[in-house]
Amino acid sequence: MSVLIKGGRVVTATDDYVGDVFVDGERISLLGEDLDVTADTTIDASGKLVLPGLVDPHTHLDMPFGGTTTIDDVQSGQTAAAFGGTTCHVDFCIQPKGATFAEALDIWRAKAAGKQLIDMGYHIAVTDLHEGGSLEELATLPDQGVTSYKLFMAYKGALMVDDETLFRTMEVAARTGALVMVHAENGDAIDVLVQRALAEGQTEPRYHAITRPPETEGEATNRAIQLARVAGSPLYVVHVSCHESVEPITLAREKGWDVWGETCTQYLFVDQTFLDRPDFEGAKYVYTPPPRHKVNQEILWSALRSDVLSVLSTDHCAFRWDTQKTLGKDDFSKIPNGGPGLEDRLQMIHHFGVREGRISLNRMVELLAAAPAKLFGLYPRKGTLAVGSDADIVVFDPEREVTITAASRHSKSDYNLYEGTRVQGAPELVLLRGTVLVDGDELVAEPGVGQYVARARFGQELRR
Ligand code: URP
Ligand code: ZN
Ligand code: ZN
Repeated sequence: MSVLIKGGRVVTATDDYVGDVFVDGERISLLGEDLDVTADTTIDASGKLVLPGLVDPHTHLDMPFGGTTTIDDVQSGQTAAAFGGTTCHVDFCIQPKGATFAEALDIWRAKAAGKQLIDMGYHIAVTDLHEGGSLEELATLPDQGVTSYKLFMAYKGALMVDDETLFRTMEVAARTGALVMVHAENGDAIDVLVQRALAEGQTEPRYHAITRPPETEGEATNRAIQLARVAGSPLYVVHVSCHESVEPITLAREKGWDVWGETCTQYLFVDQTFLDRPDFEGAKYVYTPPPRHKVNQEILWSALRSDVLSVLSTDHCAFRWDTQKTLGKDDFSKIPNGGPGLEDRLQMIHHFGVREGRISLNRMVELLAAAPAKLFGLYPRKGTLAVGSDADIVVFDPEREVTITAASRHSKSDYNLYEGTRVQGAPELVLLRGTVLVDGDELVAEPGVGQYVARARFGQELRR
């Protein structure tokens, strides 16, 4: 089966030209102006952008968390992703306490079986190196294509690890070629602040932000950077939300250390005043790190421009408001942390980033596709349009106007962080390895088309 996508504006992290893309089977086999080829199907892309399928390195599908389970399983989450132009993601496989890493991966693979609409890989989230997974077992995971280790420096009593576990994991990564990812907040200090607030009767959603001050993020970011230096491992700081963590990442990158940072769509648009919304509406914006003071939004945009922050992910961790966020009706610390976002990232960043002149189209593709693919061992199979790359392609109509609403989105969450926002620009056609997934408002493919991707080690390319 061959497909010719004709006359579109082809945009990658580095290219921008009007031309054709010829897909033969699952891969791109030719690119250029006015290709002289015939195909089984020809798609007229004139006036449209032709982009690589996006890569999201930060999602939580079907994950037990905060006394419940995220509402999007692999099928609904990946449906939302496909409609949002994302054709590959890396989900967090969380090691249950006491379980080996092999057991954890078996659990996560079972959740995905038969449900996959897009391609996916796994990060392993280390929670327990003592009774569960061992350092030796951790060292074997890159051989299975699990080439990133995640550690939570917060969520005390749940996912949080101590510095010994963090440091020992970094030492393993340094010798196995894995990338260490950290959720950087000082969980011990935050726990003191949370318990004190609750003891004083401060139970509303807004205390979520008050008890997680930005300095706790800055301190943990700096600690992780310094420990990674000692261990000799590369480090990736997830969901950077504020000046206090941008600052140590800036310093590290100026020094040329192997440190990268990511922010997420919501930190660019939602600020801490959203938590004050009445009638428990504020609970919709309880995710971690919390929405910050608005001044941080320009700091994050600037860091995205200058490559202090190199990736823009979603941290899609969706819950329903009416049956799940309400677990914390009388206690903000019991509100499950997280929000939906997989379907919104491209449209929000295209409209408010590119259309409004904050970043270029090339930079958008770099942040949403090429850079995460490179950092997480997927490039050049994913994250670009090149001969030999998987034919993961988004034909994007830059003019189509859309109002974002939960009702029109494909997450099972009952709310959207950007409800009512008008944006211009929407995916029109989404292909995964040459197969049409989404055509306009229709999901065309059946679950099962998506595949597990064994990723390359940090710094190495992934080719078939
Ligand atoms: O609130 C969030 N971000 N939930 C998902 C877990 C995490 O910390 O990334
Ligand atoms: Zn986190
Ligand atoms: Zn997350």
